[in-house]
Amino acid sequence: MSVLTTILFIASAVMFILGLRMLGRPETARRGNMVSACGMGAAVAGTLLVILTERDVTITAGEGGINPLLFVALGLVIGGVIGVPAARLVKMTAMPEMVAIFNGFGGIASLLVGWGTLHRAFEVTHAVETPSEPPVTLDTGLSVLGVLGQIGGGDGRFVAATIFLAVLIGGVTFTGSLVAFGKLAGKITSKPVLYPGQNWVNGALAALAIAGGVMMCVDPGVYWVFLAVVGLSFVLGVAAVIPIGGGDMPVVISLLNSYSGLAACAAGFATGNMLLIVVGALVGASGLILTRIMCLAMNRSLANVLFSGFGSVSAGGATAATGEHKEAKSLTPEEAYYVLEAASSVVIVPGYGMAVAQAQHAVKELADLLEKNGAEVKFAIHPVAGRMPGHMNVLLAEANVPYEQLAELDGVNPSMEAVDVAIVIGANDVVNPDAKNDPASPLYGMPIVEVDRARNVFVLKRSLASGYAGVENPLFFLENTSMIFGDAKKTIEGLVGEFKSA
Ligand code: TAP
Repeated sequence: MSVLTTILFIASAVMFILGLRMLGRPETARRGNMVSACGMGAAVAGTLLVILTERDVTITAGEGGINPLLFVALGLVIGGVIGVPAARLVKMTAMPEMVAIFNGFGGIASLLVGWGTLHRAFEVTHAVETPSEPPVTLDTGLSVLGVLGQIGGGDGRFVAATIFLAVLIGGVTFTGSLVAFGKLAGKITSKPVLYPGQNWVNGALAALAIAGGVMMCVDPGVYWVFLAVVGLSFVLGVAAVIPIGGGDMPVVISLLNSYSGLAACAAGFATGNMLLIVVGALVGASGLILTRIMCLAMNRSLANVLFSGFGSVSAGGATAATGEHKEAKSLTPEEAYYVLEAASSVVIVPGYGMAVAQAQHAVKELADLLEKNGAEVKFAIHPVAGRMPGHMNVLLAEANVPYEQLAELDGVNPSMEAVDVAIVIGANDVVNPDAKNDPASPLYGMPIVEVDRARNVFVLKRSLASGYAGVENPLFFLENTSMIFGDAKKTIEGLVGEFKSA
């Protein structure tokens, strides 16, 4: 590798690490995205240099073959034509779907790299029998294992194992992501698809795939075994994701994102590409960390998300109906205005309903009016409010709510007793006091925004129906709580109207 290529690859890895770090905070996230994009630019430039100057053994087509640069150019054009409009036109609410499909592309890319590497080894092994084939830069006359060792720069069996992993994980990521996309986009049922013995069937599929992997390591020259592993990986991806409910898809997507990194990492080992190993490991690790954060914030284990069929009982069912028989006070926006007008400290808790109502701009206007009226306003952001990581942050950033106004649970809960009004906008599970008080609740143990301790609580939603977890919320029936029924955007606009006309 030339010095320039080495510098480009190191710079690329450093930019990916810095970019990831910057993505961790809302203030630096945009720049982090740009830095990571530059890292990818440096990686592509370095790869082009390798092709141009060194005719790397893993990618050269040999004399008379198709120029590999043509493939790179084609990839850039096709990727650009799909990627640029997709990124520009996607609605914020459709972001999880888009991430899902992009993860899938990452998975299939790694699968193809693994496949291409094995195919190359077959070609080279075959070349010795057909001398009319174009000359190649690898030693002909070796077994497939021997050639694989040359390509990956190590032991042939190790390279075969990494090809197996790239193909298996890449295939699972591809079809699993397609199913996740379908569930989120409403193209297939978002309910968990369950049948008796499902985990056993999935286990058997995984065991068969692993057996194929062992056979590949013993003798990678048997092509049908490889094709069977590809097929099994596709089936396994579908089988693993269909039993998971649509609401859990963000966790699944984060996990699949991690898988796509692991598949890329394996493909890096298979081709002896250091940068792919480093970047794949970064994606794999960050995806796993995010998955863990989401599971912790929901107080659920990853096994519970993956295997329990959570969400098969539809939200807002029987438990919500029982709520209707209790006494829940309700206010009109006009009545609520008088309380807000006198408030000096307000905490706003946005939830999934704010996203549904697209109320973020109206909410920002209300927050401005409250501040103008002398109140201190904070937004309490629960880590799993909404349906995707950072869902509320993204919506509030779109409405230009300043980052300084956003607070995490630790930033609001300790001083909740001093809050005059907590306005809960389309949030439900993330403010459910049963998560603290009722060990029998499925939410028990999940940290919440403890609005029940505020002096007044206004809950803006359309009914007493339950949220994602499908459980009743005792908050609605507390002495200090008032429901303001209706679409959140309309209610907030009503409150804004009252402030403006006062
Ligand atoms: P939820 O508990 O799902 O409650 C949302 C509430 O919004 C519903 O009860 C609904 O009540 C109300 N709503 C819907 N449309 C509305 C509209 N147009 N106007 C006003 N209200 C509306 O939401 P949450 O509190 O944000 O909690 C999120 C849940 O999703 C948690 O259980 C979490 O574990 C889960 N989850 C989150 C993630 C991530 S990463 N964020 C991932 C997977 C699962 P009405 O029908 O009565 O209006």
